[in-house]
Amino acid sequence: MQTVKAYQEMVESALKDCLRTQPAAAASLVEAMEYSLLSGGKRIRPILLLASCEMGGGTCAEAMPYALALEMIHTYSCIHDDLPAMDDDALRRNRPTNHVVYGEAMAILAGDGLLTEAGAMMLRDAMHRSDLRGTRAAEAILRRAGIAGMVSGQVMDMQMEGKPIDRDAVTYIHTHKTADLLTAPLEAGLILAGCGDEAVAAGICYGQHLGLAFQQMDDLLDVIGDTESLGKQVGMDALEGKQTWVALRGVEGTREDIREETRKAVDALACFGERAAFLQELAMDLTHRVR
Ligand code: IPE
Ligand code: IPE
Ligand code: MG
Ligand code: MG
Ligand code: MG
Repeated sequence: MQTVKAYQEMVESALKDCLRTQPAAAASLVEAMEYSLLSGGKRIRPILLLASCEMGGGTCAEAMPYALALEMIHTYSCIHDDLPAMDDDALRRNRPTNHVVYGEAMAILAGDGLLTEAGAMMLRDAMHRSDLRGTRAAEAILRRAGIAGMVSGQVMDMQMEGKPIDRDAVTYIHTHKTADLLTAPLEAGLILAGCGDEAVAAGICYGQHLGLAFQQMDDLLDVIGDTESLGKQVGMDALEGKQTWVALRGVEGTREDIREETRKAVDALACFGERAAFLQELAMDLTHRVR
């Protein structure tokens, strides 16, 4: 079984080269994209994708283009999330945010570049395959990143700012802005491994529960975390009147719900037997995260 560190190193080294394959790209654009892409995130989404593919009997090598694409999409979502028109944040991954360094216009374009290159990277791999697995994996990732997924979650996050806390709204926001991008790697990874519908559905169930726990934890850390470990400013959610799990359930209620969602995520993978051990342990470890 792989370790988180081993997966992280694999992802880091592949990410370093992935934008360098386009000689015509403007150097200033690549610099702004790499500033955020190579700034040392936890790499949870690509790790989930590689580990799911292995759990389903596939290899890291065949899953890597999709894992990198997903991290590029996640990074774009963070650059745009931090813009003055959105959360207006000045710190991410312990560095000034993209727009603070490169200006708003370049930050928007760096996000555009990461999103479109992610799609192209997946298609370049998919079109050389003799089966439809790559195409289906790319579709799953783009669907969950797009208008039925992360983007709509972000829209609702913005539109519900300052409104009275509402359980349905916060559940919708968490499901889409965050859980969709943590479900995509399970769906895509298991499809790439050639798993059947039932196994893919089990992976999706894990991703949805893990994703909810992940955003509940993100909301909790904004209240009880510290800037140095987290790498982003704390206390911003309350300031902006965000719909958060802590506003809905309080600190203790949120801790309880994180444990409950994590238990459901772990149980969802029972059908994979011992091959699920890494993903089950990862879910449990994330309940103690400080960043
Ligand atoms: C931050 O995601 C944005 C959310 C959806 C909560 P991560 O907590 O995975 O951020 P990085 O990639 O490790 O910086
Ligand atoms: C962001 O949620 C989800 C994204 C799609 C990036 P948050 O706004 O809570 O994420 P952070 O706290 O800025 O990382
Ligand atoms: Mg936000
Ligand atoms: Mg934010
Ligand atoms: Mg947050």
